Amino acid sequence: MAYHAVRNLARMARTQVKTRWTVLGFGRASAGANQQTPRNLMGFKDGTRNITTDEDRAAHVWAGAETGQSWMNGGTYLVARKIHMLIETWDSDAIGDQQSIFGRTKNEGAPLSGKAEHDVPDFAATGSEGKPAIEADSHIALAAHENNAGTKILRRGYNFTDGLDSVGRLDAGLMFLSFQKDPAQFVALQRKLGSSDRLNEYIRHVGSAVFAVPAGLPAAGHYYGQEFFA
Ligand code: HEM
Repeated sequence: MAYHAVRNLARMARTQVKTRWTVLGFGRASAGANQQTPRNLMGFKDGTRNITTDEDRAAHVWAGAETGQSWMNGGTYLVARKIHMLIETWDSDAIGDQQSIFGRTKNEGAPLSGKAEHDVPDFAATGSEGKPAIEADSHIALAAHENNAGTKILRRGYNFTDGLDSVGRLDAGLMFLSFQKDPAQFVALQRKLGSSDRLNEYIRHVGSAVFAVPAGLPAAGHYYGQEFFA
């Protein structure tokens, strides 16, 4: 259905715009009511702690007057990163190590400081040997808003697979998509993950783009980005 919609949008806009590149992803980007959190290709639930409230969307996703770019009011910025996963290497890693890399359990998706998926991670909790239950260089400890001056982003990634690469490895990973009122939110988190995340041993960022997404149309007769071109 989504593929059909994309084709038709591209067809209708053909005289004005052209498609530069596409990546065919799959899976659900988020969990609706009564749905389980979807898993990424590393087998972990992905999207457990994401933006879900209007309050958070207003504070972190929809651009407002603070950007100094009035034509973007009510719009948002999309960051797209094609991230390869070294799945064969990941699959040979022990589950205990995989869990400490993310800071969550593989089966339930619970933070290593708790029991249930939606337990709030406690980054100060200690494990049996007095070490932090969620290690400081785990993915969630580095990315959580509690450890980033409140910074949040709306993640909407999709899995992708593209057969095998030239040496027979799975050509697969995460088409990471995030929406934020200012791309600086993503940059701050990515800088931190880029320098310390233990997940980096198993992933390679291979493509990156940022898009300005203007607000929806207020009424018939308007077009996208009208305020920008005016
Ligand atoms: C292939 C690359 C990646 C994988 C496999 C991955 C996977 C995950 C998983 C399994 C979680 C825990 C469950 C959840 O709360 O959703 C998570 C959380 C998160 N990730 Fe990633 N992620 C990747 C890349 C990124 C990137 C590039 C960013 C941003 C720069 C990012 C930001 C976050 C944030 C903000 C959280 C929530 C942390 C929290 O508040 O607990 N991730 N990710």
